[in-house]
Amino acid sequence: MKYRSIAIDGPSGAGKSTLAKRLAQELGFLYVDTGAIYRTVGLAARQRGIAPAAGECVAEMLPELSITMDYGEDGLQRMFLDGEDVTAAIRENDISACASKVAALPAVRDFLMEMQRRTAREHDVIMDGRDIGTVVLPNADLKIFLTAAPEARAERRYKELLERGQQADFDQVLREVIERDLRDTQRETAPLCQGADAVLADTTGLDLEGSFQLLLGMIRERLGIKEGTHAE
Ligand code: DC
Repeated sequence: MKYRSIAIDGPSGAGKSTLAKRLAQELGFLYVDTGAIYRTVGLAARQRGIAPAAGECVAEMLPELSITMDYGEDGLQRMFLDGEDVTAAIRENDISACASKVAALPAVRDFLMEMQRRTAREHDVIMDGRDIGTVVLPNADLKIFLTAAPEARAERRYKELLERGQQADFDQVLREVIERDLRDTQRETAPLCQGADAVLADTTGLDLEGSFQLLLGMIRERLGIKEGTHAE
C-alpha cells in the first residue's frame, strides 16, 4: 500500500504546526512535526553543555542519543530523549536558537533523515519542516511552502508568549524571527527555500481559519479527497 504524503515547509511562525495538526485531524493523516526532532537534538546538546554550533562535538554526541517519538490516541506527537518525555521542555524559548544551530549541521540532518522517511513509509503523513519537500520527501504528493511576512509571524509569536504568561518584547521577538530566518535560509545544508514544485501559501492577511481553509482546499483538490470524507 502506498501511503500519501503532504510536505509543508516554511519559516518559523508561519503557522505550519497549528495548521498541519488540524489538517491531519481533518483528513485522518498522521501529523509529523520535524522541528520537534531538531529541538530534541538541541536540548540534548544543551543538557550536555555542548555548544550547539560546535559541529564535531555535536556529531560525537549523536550516536549516544536515543531519540524516539510516539503518537497517543489524540494523534499528538510526543518526543522522548533517552527515555524521558521532553515534549514540553523542547518548547522553551532558548531551545529555538539551539535547534536552529544544530539543524545547520550536516551530521545532524543525516542522522535524522531516516527517522523522518521511515515515518512517511508507514503512514499517511502531513510533515512540516524546512526541507521536507526539497530533501526528505522529494516524491510527496503535495508540497506547500507556507509563509507570512516577518512582522505578522512575530506578532503571532508575541501573542502566543503573552498568552502563556511569559514576558515578551515585540522588537526582540521580531529580531529573533529575522535571525532565525537568516540562519535557516542561508545555511549550506538543506536551506529553507521554496522548491520549484511547491505551491506558495502566504497567510499574511489571513487568520487561522482562513489559512486552514486555503490549505484544505489545496489538499482536497490535489489528492482528490471529497469534502466530508477522510482520505481512503
Ligand atoms: O519548526 P521549529 O521552529 O520547531 O524548528 C526548530 C528549528 O529546526 C528551526 O530553526 C529550523 C530547524 N528545522 C530544520 O532545519 N529542518 C526541519 N525539517 C525542521 C526544523
